[in-house]
Amino acid sequence: MSVPAAANSVSNIKKGLEGVVTDETRISRVIPDKQYLTYYGYPVQDLAENCDFMEVAYLLLNGELPNTKQYADFCDMEKKSRGVSGNILSVIKTFPKNSHPMRMMQTCIAYLGLEDADAENNSVEANRRKYMRLLAQLPTVTAAAMRHTKGEDFIPPDPKLGYCENFFQMCFGKIPSKDVLKAFDVSMTLYAEHGFNASTFTARVIISSLSDLHSAASGAVGSLKGPLHGGANEAVMHMLMDVGNGDPKKWMLDALATKKKIMGFGHRVYKNGDSRVPCMKKYRDLAAKSLGGEKWVEMSNILESTMIAEKNIHPNLDFPAGPAYYMMGFPIPFFTPLFIMSRITGWAAHVIEQLSSNKLIRPLSQYIGPVERKVTPINQRAA
Ligand code: COA
Repeated sequence: MSVPAAANSVSNIKKGLEGVVTDETRISRVIPDKQYLTYYGYPVQDLAENCDFMEVAYLLLNGELPNTKQYADFCDMEKKSRGVSGNILSVIKTFPKNSHPMRMMQTCIAYLGLEDADAENNSVEANRRKYMRLLAQLPTVTAAAMRHTKGEDFIPPDPKLGYCENFFQMCFGKIPSKDVLKAFDVSMTLYAEHGFNASTFTARVIISSLSDLHSAASGAVGSLKGPLHGGANEAVMHMLMDVGNGDPKKWMLDALATKKKIMGFGHRVYKNGDSRVPCMKKYRDLAAKSLGGEKWVEMSNILESTMIAEKNIHPNLDFPAGPAYYMMGFPIPFFTPLFIMSRITGWAAHVIEQLSSNKLIRPLSQYIGPVERKVTPINQRAA
């Protein structure tokens, strides 16, 4: 039986919160006229060219770039914090090998929370300690989970190696060329932070109830998993593989003719191009030369120029990052966990900022369900 719907009372709905400013932030912004992303005022492309990811992780935690001593201390602490317990490694071994890596990551982050002495402590000092531990431990559990899915044994972290070298060593048992390491490091810097995107907003919503950083991060992973957000870098690689040996231009024209959403293109904020893309493309191309992956670059360039010519929709960061990760040897389902290793810095910075002037995030909705009704006892309801 249909029942009358309540009359509309609010008309100013902003679906997807598009264009809505919900709070202030000091962490990052897209400069309106230049359309490029800055972290604490520094353009990300300058950070990616001139700093490494550890400097950027320090910046996102402290609001300033480190000097030499601060950098050395920060890296030292990161190296010392990489270890994880035998218990979590045992838990990883119980994961079904075909389970979704983002579910594995959510489970690992929740488990790291179970073991973290500061888990329930929301002081700034405790959250700074947790920031460091998550930054250092996530590569360890990501590599462990990745190897588990391939039936390979865990390789423990090596405190003598830098962040990127250690990660490759834990994943593959070897360290790639300098160009490949730089491309990976650049991707970490470019993925680290991006304002009130869906996963960061999720983290802020969660912490606004005075929950905790591990809960905020595991919730954010759930948001990042979706193909309209973090999952796009994986979808890009599937698209490139689907093009295969075919004609990329024809593939794109056919896809557009059938109104397909093309992964790795478009952005809620950048309508004339994502400021992170030229930098990532430069290092993707260098990595491709080092790894013999030029065919992916050529294919990508044709897809990109066709999309721009036909729809004037530009690529986002996932477009060059997806094939870069593939060429580096990462399994496609693990591309988004790599994104987590980077974005944990932005999420944690936002959690700390939200707590610094917290107000429970609790928006309203416009009700369009049935009008008020009287309850009929169950034995009198129509069959
Ligand atoms: N492929 C094809 N068409 C696209 C497109 C894409 N990747 N991105 C946007 N469009 C088109 C839409 O179809 C829509 O056209 P219409 O007005 O004729 O209906 C128009 O551009 C506006 O798109 P919309 O989805 O409303 O913009 P948005 O700001 O809500 O969406 C994204 C932004 C990122 C969700 C969207 O561009 C998208 O789905 N991209 C693919 C997924 C992706 O790469 N995500 C990673 C983001 S960093």
